[in-house]
Amino acid sequence: MSYVTEKNLTDVVLKRWEDIPDPRLREIMQSLIKHLHAFVRDIEPTGEEWFKAIDFITRTGKMSDNKRQEVILFSDVTGVSMLVDAINHRVPTGATPSTVEGPFHVADAPHIEHGGSMAVGAPGIPTFVTGTVRGLDGKPIAGAILDLWQTDGEGLYESQRGSEEPWMRGIYHSQADGSYAVRTVAPIAYTIPMDGTVGALMDKTEISHMRPAHIHFAVSAPGHKGVVTHLFRKGDQYIETDVVYGVKEPLIVEFTKKSGGKTPTGEVLNEPFYEVHYDFVLQKEAAAKAAA
Ligand SMILES: [Fe+2]
Repeated sequence: MSYVTEKNLTDVVLKRWEDIPDPRLREIMQSLIKHLHAFVRDIEPTGEEWFKAIDFITRTGKMSDNKRQEVILFSDVTGVSMLVDAINHRVPTGATPSTVEGPFHVADAPHIEHGGSMAVGAPGIPTFVTGTVRGLDGKPIAGAILDLWQTDGEGLYESQRGSEEPWMRGIYHSQADGSYAVRTVAPIAYTIPMDGTVGALMDKTEISHMRPAHIHFAVSAPGHKGVVTHLFRKGDQYIETDVVYGVKEPLIVEFTKKSGGKTPTGEVLNEPFYEVHYDFVLQKEAAAKAAA
């Protein structure tokens, strides 16, 4: 038995935590202990500072639920979410790149017909997003599921509206020719929620807490590797300083302004609207596994 000293403590703890049958869990815990100890040795916190850290983690967890996810937000603003994403999508394949899911996805969005609106009654400039879902071979994928969520034209998500009904989200399906058509309103740049623990932390920095305007997509299809991503609005002033580091160049799309007239879904509008076009490309499940 070795009695602990400041010097040997890390080694004593690591030795104890070798005793884990699951090799992956053992690897994770060994690395976690090594890095946690190195962090503490580096900053040499006072007892008061360490209690503050515990309190931060406790409050961050407590304010998270199925609609508000402060823990994900912390992972996002520290770049960890994008790092995990990058590690898991290393191989450039020609497929649509992924980006962070973010804290605002709500499961079980309503199913909306081809060309239908996910923004009924929402403030904002009408926006029509159309395109196709295709495989890497260029062939259209029918029956792909497109799960969308975004802010309304005032920059608010469902959980921030406090809406009891689904707000600014919907599930669409690609047609036999792979096409999809969504009516929505243009998202705008928004601040991450600043009323929680992460916001209080950001307030102590001079880092921008804005996200450039974007629409979230989770696209999946049988036999293909699904992608969780965003489409970002080209020209947004925050495109280079996204607080969660989510912007990838191929995901920046033009919002083409029309003064009115026939929309891509065949309606006629007497007000300005935007057209957005994007073709999603999915890789086959087998190819994705082989590359991993
Ligand atoms: Fe978002």
